Amino acid sequence: MADIKELIDRLYETASLTPDELKAVLSTDEYDEYLHEKAREVAVRTFGKDIYLRGIIEFSNYCKNDCYYCGIRAGNTHCERYRMTVDDIIRCADSGYETGFRTFVLQSGEDLTYKTEDICRMVRTIKENHPDCAVTLSIGEKSREEYQAYFDAGCDRYLLRHETYNSEHYKMLHPNKMSWLNRIRCLHDLKDIGYQTGCGIMVGTPGQTLDHIVEDLVFMKEFDPHMIGIGPFLPAANTPFADCPRGDTELTLRLLSVIRLMLPKVLLPATTALGSAEANGREKGVLAGANVIMPNLSPVENRGKYQLYDGKICISDDAALCSRCITARLASIGYRAVTGRGDHPDYC
Ligand code: 5AD
Ligand code: FES
Repeated sequence: MADIKELIDRLYETASLTPDELKAVLSTDEYDEYLHEKAREVAVRTFGKDIYLRGIIEFSNYCKNDCYYCGIRAGNTHCERYRMTVDDIIRCADSGYETGFRTFVLQSGEDLTYKTEDICRMVRTIKENHPDCAVTLSIGEKSREEYQAYFDAGCDRYLLRHETYNSEHYKMLHPNKMSWLNRIRCLHDLKDIGYQTGCGIMVGTPGQTLDHIVEDLVFMKEFDPHMIGIGPFLPAANTPFADCPRGDTELTLRLLSVIRLMLPKVLLPATTALGSAEANGREKGVLAGANVIMPNLSPVENRGKYQLYDGKICISDDAALCSRCITARLASIGYRAVTGRGDHPDYC
């Protein structure tokens, strides 16, 4: 096989490698600096030094599911639950708009208290109040009809990480009643309906191998999503994986760079999990090719309760403070925080 530097050059030039070659690139840290530099160059070519900010509103931590990794899983009786009203969510977006945000990501556990018409009212009202904004939903697995209804209400984007493209590995992370096939069905429906669609994985979940990550990359290349969410697995107290080791941030950064080279125009966040895993993690993500950051807009009283994992950052800062903090952090590495809609370059 060609040496790793040659593989990185080929990935840079052609945006593709064989699965074995991808595995070889992911297997060593020796060329990390070179890899990040190439990925950064590709990101700057598409997006300049602009980093899109999205305001995320975590509106409920009730969840009907029991994913083994997740701190808000139904079985976690230590998790203090909260649920915002539709009107509170709309008000939260209004104040985010005042702060300057033009994309709102509405995220929650799979909370069946909100009916389809509630989600639609939320989306419709935010879009009516702020026609220059994009709305992203991240509320889990739904039927095609529900996805269609949210889309018809004006929703622009949808995030649903596939978590792993290997169905055996999926079974190690989720109870039997959750289905890998349904998750993949959801992603295809979302893209088909016309959403800017996001998939993604955690790095370092229990049982994950490099071969699994390569399967994820092959899927991502083929599926060609508009957004990809990647963060390290971080253990959450009172979950079956509480004592498992956390994911490797170096590998997470390497993966961000490989994804940037494979999908040059994809919207790629430097995630909160990456920022929680290490100091300046999000800045490192940007320097590895990420081009999106999602500051928290949730009311401060709820933030500490939306703990998918332990050690989450920004749980005591308000939206304006987070926004100023991110802007300063990005400036310190020569990037600019921008608050436009920040659509995928091919999306019109
Ligand atoms: N560590 C890191 N990321 C997590 N997520 C859920 N639990 C954890 C954890 N313990 C991620 C999942 C989910 C997204 C909203 O958060 O990938 O799709
Ligand atoms: Fe909530 Fe998995 S525990 S989606």
